[in-house]
Amino acid sequence: MSLDYKAGSVVFNKVSKRFGQVSAIDNVSFTIEAGQLVTLLGPSGCGKTTTLRMIAGLEHPTEGQILIGDKDVTRLPATDRDVSMVFQSYALFPHMSVAENVAYGLMVSGTAKAEAIDKALEGLQLVGLAEYGNRLPSELSGGQQQRVAVARALVLEPEVLLLDEPLSNLDAKLRRYVREEIRDLQQQLGLTAVYVTHDQEEALAVSDQIIVMNKSVIAQQGTPRELYEQPVSAFVADFIGDANLIKAELQSREGDFARIDVGGVNVQVPHREQQSGAVTLAVRPDAVILHADPEVTALTGQVTHASYLGNQIQYTVDSELGELFVIDYRVDQPVARGSSVALDFNNRGLALVAA
Ligand SMILES: Nc1ncnc2c1ncn2[C@@H]1O[C@H](COP(=O)(O)OP(=O)(O)O)[C@@H](O)[C@H]1O
Ligand SMILES: [Mg+2]
Repeated sequence: MSLDYKAGSVVFNKVSKRFGQVSAIDNVSFTIEAGQLVTLLGPSGCGKTTTLRMIAGLEHPTEGQILIGDKDVTRLPATDRDVSMVFQSYALFPHMSVAENVAYGLMVSGTAKAEAIDKALEGLQLVGLAEYGNRLPSELSGGQQQRVAVARALVLEPEVLLLDEPLSNLDAKLRRYVREEIRDLQQQLGLTAVYVTHDQEEALAVSDQIIVMNKSVIAQQGTPRELYEQPVSAFVADFIGDANLIKAELQSREGDFARIDVGGVNVQVPHREQQSGAVTLAVRPDAVILHADPEVTALTGQVTHASYLGNQIQYTVDSELGELFVIDYRVDQPVARGSSVALDFNNRGLALVAA
């Protein structure tokens, strides 16, 4: 194999980017280790694409410093960086064959045609399209066109591969399949990849690390498990998976744990440096336990909606804590709409968060 990858790290050091009055990125610092797949996750407009474009050199910071593989690239143009990008729209040339599309970037950067075509065929092989080089893009399905776009980026042997919402033009079933393919390739080739998405499930599924962004800043960085199980803020808890944000009372601390009163029910959770008094507890929908006997705990509620979804029943429960969204996997023990229930909590699935 002639394709050869040398994965680079990416460092943002207090980077800000303003477009006129708009602050797209505000004093953001992070490190992406070489060989990792890191996702930038956040709602539309939070600054994901701007961050990616600054790694690519398509935008330049207003302030701060960017390093790729320990080299300061802050002022370096895109053409002088070993970085390639997979765009949401694929952006394939319709009149060129698939192989020519994949070879194009290499030829533009001075690779001789025969070698470029060789590498292109190798790239197509990596994405499982070795037999498709002579077709036109319009003769491929959406998923296959997306793989051509990935091959085109891979043949440039980037230190960092950038992907901006690469699956958003595919239907739901194909999205899962293609995201697994991208993850497999990244691991097999040992690539550094920065992957932008607004889809939390996609981020959880493919990432070594996730950087959650909100309103131009980083809300939290961590592994998928850290973000899901230990969200630091109400925003992160609610953005990564669903969460009920409940007002509760921290009563006492012992070791790393706090005893919390939640509407008359006691639970134990890591205190995360929060003090006695009013606190906000993020409660995953499947951490709420419903008891058909309303006498079982001090916290009662009434089921106002019940939806059977095959592998789970989703309930809305009106309680003293407000309206709660509950997921129950015990589909053989349904609770009827209108029933009074007692509520309890599973300690796994609870986290104290900043309000
Ligand atoms: N070229 C530009 N000119 C002016 N404003 C921009 C430009 N690019 C992005 N922005 C603004 O910067 C903010 C972040 O945008 P973007 O990085 O595209 O967000 P995301 O990819 O997370 O949806 C938004 O408010 C957007 O309108
Ligand atoms: Mg974007």
